[in-house]
Amino acid sequence: MVNGLEDVIAAETVLSDVDGQAGRLIIRGHSLDELAEGSCYEDVLGLLWVELIDGCPDARGLAAGLGAARVRAFEHVRAVDRQLLALPLYDVVLSLLTRIEDGDDLATALNLVAAPAVFAPAVIRLRLGREPLPPDPMLPHAADMLRMLQGVRPSATQVEALDRYLVTASDHGLNASTFAARVIASTHAGLAAAAIGAFCALKGPLHGGAPGPVLDMLDDIEEPDRAPTWLESALANGERLMGFGHRVYRVRDPRADALKAALELLTRSGEVTVERLRLAEAVERAALELLARHKPDRRLQTNLEFYTALLLEALGFPRDAFTCVFAASRVGGWIAHAREQTLRGRLIRPQSRYVGPRAQAIA
Ligand code: ACO
Repeated sequence: MVNGLEDVIAAETVLSDVDGQAGRLIIRGHSLDELAEGSCYEDVLGLLWVELIDGCPDARGLAAGLGAARVRAFEHVRAVDRQLLALPLYDVVLSLLTRIEDGDDLATALNLVAAPAVFAPAVIRLRLGREPLPPDPMLPHAADMLRMLQGVRPSATQVEALDRYLVTASDHGLNASTFAARVIASTHAGLAAAAIGAFCALKGPLHGGAPGPVLDMLDDIEEPDRAPTWLESALANGERLMGFGHRVYRVRDPRADALKAALELLTRSGEVTVERLRLAEAVERAALELLARHKPDRRLQTNLEFYTALLLEALGFPRDAFTCVFAASRVGGWIAHAREQTLRGRLIRPQSRYVGPRAQAIA
């Protein structure tokens, strides 16, 4: 038995190739390094969905379809009452996701992509006692998401930074949430069932729940000089350093580099302070040194979530919304994998080895 299914191949996919030894990510034939620079989220959706979703249009058609889907998603925001709003943000978004009609078609796929992008900004504003802002279907997806959050038209740099994030996190092989989506899709449940199951798998800190705690760590460390002592004591207490380590990557996580570049864009335009970036870099340096000593055989590197935390903070998302913003990106990958599984896969039904007590006669 392989604990945690490490190195087990459980699906064939044309969607993404995570090469842990080379530190490279390929999304449908394109290297992430190239995609993250010049593409918007609609481009990567087109790349992921082509031939898997009937009638999938080009990036322009997807932008228009997504705009209309954001308007439809906004209708569900009315369901948020005081009782629902008292729940953690993640739970409010989860509850709104369950209102989306299930299906296997393009309209369902677009509704599911639009949903977290609309729900998260709306719930953030409601919690602050502000009116949620209706979507502008004419705007590109990333620009509208930021406008619904901030209440003003975002700067071009902010839109570019969010697009880089949405593209970078869109798909990543058989990670825990994508695997969950494929298991659900293998029963021929619809796309909404697969995406909601995947959203639940994203919640934990070992997967999509890490970036909030990354910022808690930076807040606690406060000054670059304090990083080594703070981190050493966390490791001595048996804690994991959030934003570091990965099941597959052994040299580097290319997504961390793509997001660090996006963060540097925001630093140049004054949206991230140089002090914040310096603190993050000092923490990263100290963590990598300590982890190399702590686990010399494991080669623990910075993962996607470390710079995600700083990037989303700079764009104005509160830390308890980070998992929902992650979902706003990864949902495109979940849908593509769910369709691939339904069209080309079989029911996923592995075996377990029984290690419990032997059968006994009931007295
Ligand atoms: N800090 C300290 N120790 C670590 C870390 C870390 N960040 N990551 C792994 N280790 C240690 C483990 O404690 C373990 O030690 P042990 O063998 O003495 O028990 C050893 O390295 C191997 O760890 P595993 O849990 O087997 O590694 P796995 O491949 O399952 O874990 C994971 C990957 C979950 C990402 C892990 O590195 C981790 O917990 N990181 C911190 C949380 C985090 O950043 N999550 C976001 C991941 S990125 C994403 O999902 C989008």
